[in-house]
Amino acid sequence: KEHISEIEAFQARNMEEIESFRIKYLGKKGILNQYFAEFKNVSNDQKKDFGQAVNTLKNAAQDKVTALKEQLESTQEEKGIYGDLSRPGEPVEIGARHPISIVKNQIIEIFSNIGFNVSEGPEIEDDWHNFTALNLPEYHPARDMQDTFFIQTNPDVLLRTHTSSVQVRYMEENKPPIRTISPGRVFRNEAISARSHCIFHQVEGLYIDKTVSFADLKQTLLYFTKQLFGKSKIRLRPSYFPFTEPSAEVDIYWGLETETDYRITKGTGWLEIMGCGMVDPNVLQNCNIDPAEYSGFAFGMGIERIAMLLYQIGDIRMFYENDLRFLEQFKSSI
Ligand code: PHE
Repeated sequence: KEHISEIEAFQARNMEEIESFRIKYLGKKGILNQYFAEFKNVSNDQKKDFGQAVNTLKNAAQDKVTALKEQLESTQEEKGIYGDLSRPGEPVEIGARHPISIVKNQIIEIFSNIGFNVSEGPEIEDDWHNFTALNLPEYHPARDMQDTFFIQTNPDVLLRTHTSSVQVRYMEENKPPIRTISPGRVFRNEAISARSHCIFHQVEGLYIDKTVSFADLKQTLLYFTKQLFGKSKIRLRPSYFPFTEPSAEVDIYWGLETETDYRITKGTGWLEIMGCGMVDPNVLQNCNIDPAEYSGFAFGMGIERIAMLLYQIGDIRMFYENDLRFLEQFKSSI
């Protein structure tokens, strides 16, 4: 009995202590073997009780040794995981968002603040959504403005040349009022250079309601450029797009306004940032919206071009080369 309570109370701090405990009870000259040796001297009527008691003791000692070992191992494991808690942490490599994503998210945020939602569509398009519905019938010379990658001809299947195709899909599926922006990848069969690429990104916007006017368009553009660039000295130059009438190109004045304006190092003056206009009544009609009841404006911009301005990037190819020296520079951006 005394042995049992001693066994129960025993605590070990390390393997050596467990081992000497084991030897003390279960070793060759240990307490248990001494009892077993005495067994033959015990009178017959006590043999049964004595034997049971010794066996209980033996089991208790063996169980204790196993338990102590397990306990020690688990505390060692924990130490292995947590180690020295005062040790300085190892730095975790954090990636950076791609500048195209950063700028795209900024544009989405700015327009969602004035009630625009985000719409998406397929990159592989049919002729209707990319051209015909947008007032660009077959053989229309304006189709040449956008050098198209065809996947199949007759019927035409192609890589979309602009995300205006998403606007067509959106108008077909939703009733006005419509306020939506369509970010996405677009494709044009253009020679790759510092200024243009065959794959790039656009955000196009569409607003359709009763009595939407050109003044609404201008005011929206002023708000947008002010939010994104922190300035909004813009001008609208008359232009032509088959899907808008009247159409304009938007220039932003990118000049040295304060000496501390860190963004401005080169490329100053009036710089084109997007195309826009009032949605052509034919386009509304094509999408089952009554032009007698509704009017709207649309605009479209290339994300790369905007990002090149904001970050003073001189070569569009940098966006697609995945050079870590380039990408790492955007780590502090959200
Ligand atoms: N879809 C035109 C382009 O890709 C941009 C644009 C959109 C122009 C909407 C006017 C209105 O160049």
